[in-house]
Amino acid sequence: MSKIKLAILASGSGSNAEAIMKWAATSDLAEVVCVGCNKKAAMVISRAEIFNIPKFTVLKRKKETRESFDERMTKSLSEYKPDWIILAGYMRLLTEDFLKHFKYQVINIHPSLLPMFPGLDGYGDAFKAGVLESGCTVHYVDAGLDSGEIIDQCKFPLIPGESFEDFKRRGLAIENKFYPEVLEKFFKGFV
Ligand code: GRF
Repeated sequence: MSKIKLAILASGSGSNAEAIMKWAATSDLAEVVCVGCNKKAAMVISRAEIFNIPKFTVLKRKKETRESFDERMTKSLSEYKPDWIILAGYMRLLTEDFLKHFKYQVINIHPSLLPMFPGLDGYGDAFKAGVLESGCTVHYVDAGLDSGEIIDQCKFPLIPGESFEDFKRRGLAIENKFYPEVLEKFFKGFV
């Protein structure tokens, strides 16, 4: 049986991208066919090189519309014929045309228990709000801000007295384990 082709999109460090590449490297189910990035010199690019995964960068042009940017991103991604687009710290909203092109088969991980704390700084907003419990959410992506249907969530308590940096580091490590686990279950049809 042929493997499900995943394209990863990321903007930064890429620890989740790396966790997915590591999982896919030994998976019978899925393979990562490319890593696309929208930032120059993002660490995710060197992580893709280590795994020998084709990578490319699409940089936003001055005054370029979201539609035009996403059209160029769609073109670059399409060369690899992905079945699913996996966002891993990709810091852009996607246009309806992009989503439609990929049959709405786009998944993301967000660092909060959605629908609480959508947006750029899920851990920061939760920490500031003084929550007792936080978590991360794997969800379908729609054109809104972290508003797509939820696939699975992982909850974890805050540790009394823990610094924000430690809390965030702990959260990211949990995401790195959780995201590939959810993808594995998702593609097997268990979630
Ligand atoms: C993660 O917290 C993810 O949930 C959010 O952005 C961060 C990306 O981290 N969307 P990394 O680039 O995967 O290390």
